Amino acid sequence: MEQVKVVLNDNEIPKQWYNIQADMPTPMKPPLHPGTGKPVGPDDLAPVFPMNLIEQEVSQQRWIDIPEAVLEKYLIWRPTPLCRAFNFEKLLGAPVKIYYKNEGVSPAGSHKPNTAIPQAYYNKIFGIKRLATETGAGQWGSALAMACKIFDLECRVFMVRVSYEQKPYRRMMMNAWGAECIPSPSTMTNAGKQVLAEHPDSPGSLGIAISEAIEDAVTHKGSRYSLGSVLNHVLLHQTIIGLEAQKQIEKIGVYPDVVIGCAGGGSNFAGIALPFVRDKIHGKKVQIIAAEPTSCPTMTKGPFAYDFGDLAKMTPLLPMHTLGHDFVPAPIHAGGLRYHGMAPIVSHLVNEKLVEARAYNQMETFDAGVKWARTECFIPAPETNHAIAAVVDVAMKAKEEGKEKVILFDWSGHGLVDLAAYDAYLSGKLEAYELPDEEIRRALKAIEGLPKP
Ligand SMILES: Cc1ncc(COP(=O)(O)O)c(C=O)c1O
Repeated sequence: MEQVKVVLNDNEIPKQWYNIQADMPTPMKPPLHPGTGKPVGPDDLAPVFPMNLIEQEVSQQRWIDIPEAVLEKYLIWRPTPLCRAFNFEKLLGAPVKIYYKNEGVSPAGSHKPNTAIPQAYYNKIFGIKRLATETGAGQWGSALAMACKIFDLECRVFMVRVSYEQKPYRRMMMNAWGAECIPSPSTMTNAGKQVLAEHPDSPGSLGIAISEAIEDAVTHKGSRYSLGSVLNHVLLHQTIIGLEAQKQIEKIGVYPDVVIGCAGGGSNFAGIALPFVRDKIHGKKVQIIAAEPTSCPTMTKGPFAYDFGDLAKMTPLLPMHTLGHDFVPAPIHAGGLRYHGMAPIVSHLVNEKLVEARAYNQMETFDAGVKWARTECFIPAPETNHAIAAVVDVAMKAKEEGKEKVILFDWSGHGLVDLAAYDAYLSGKLEAYELPDEEIRRALKAIEGLPKP
């Protein structure tokens, strides 16, 4: 019998996160203060984040210790299994070995608790009582709701309205973990009221929900804001995925030719990829692919520019691939991938050609996801389906070329709370939406006049 799962013992869990900033071949551009045009300093960020996380955000230290209290909570579901997808391989009939890291086994159902737990922990020890955040598909909001309960913090989540309506069970999960969940745009903030005044039927976007959550955090005493992707410290926490995967593949004596992850703000992709990017910087031959939706083609069509992370321009200017901060993506079902920007770290790696980006439409991704569900049986999240579509793409090319390939990818979450999306796909209600170029040109007008990287 061939081995399907590679598991690590609890005591083999990595004890440090990996910080790619120590190994970047060229320095990254700093975030800028929109008022002064100068790099932001820790004090500028202090009303929004606790200082211990700001220190991680700017740290150049290669390895950062994972606090004991965080490791203890990680052990509830980590280390996650690395599995070989024999059944899916058989269906594809290509000369590939496919390994996936199953992040869907976490209590919230995705990779998001990997950073929710440390973020709640660092806020708690800094003396913060309450966190505000946004969520797209609801995966991040539910992960933070759970983490806040663990560390006894209050939690308010602004959920993008289209997802709030598509995914009522995510709101219920947040409520079950004791958090409050509000559809965004809402009337609770000035940012939300402004959007509603102009667009009463706005489906919402992550950019709008971020504005609402930041405003909420800075206007409530003892509160801070928490972000589920994009920022350096978030990507740092997610490296636990790739670090575990490296221990697991070492046990079975394989090394991937290709590493794949889906990318919304870039955190699960970075989580699996960054330890392998490190190897690549040191001479290993490995192809690293980030998969995004054609409806929100941040890396494949968006320029590298300074832009705000949110609609109301409350964040610093981040150097990233972007479609413009007022871009509202089509209401596709992969809610977690509907973000106008991309993590500065991932954007930088794309510019350095250490990472390549590919885009897939909703029909291709659900086709891949349904094939997966009918072979490997776990039903993937609509976001994860983008990674699976990229796996299919790579496998089919390998078949065409008659080349053997080892593929490793991050199975970022399960889709058990996204079944309405599968229902829409299976009943022929979805279409292969691709963002028209004129819409990109229109949206990019929002960044005209901002500093250029
Ligand atoms: C299952 C899943 N995968 C991927 C993503 C995309 O986020 P990120 O790019 O930060 O990993 C999300 C976001 O909500 C998600 O829920």
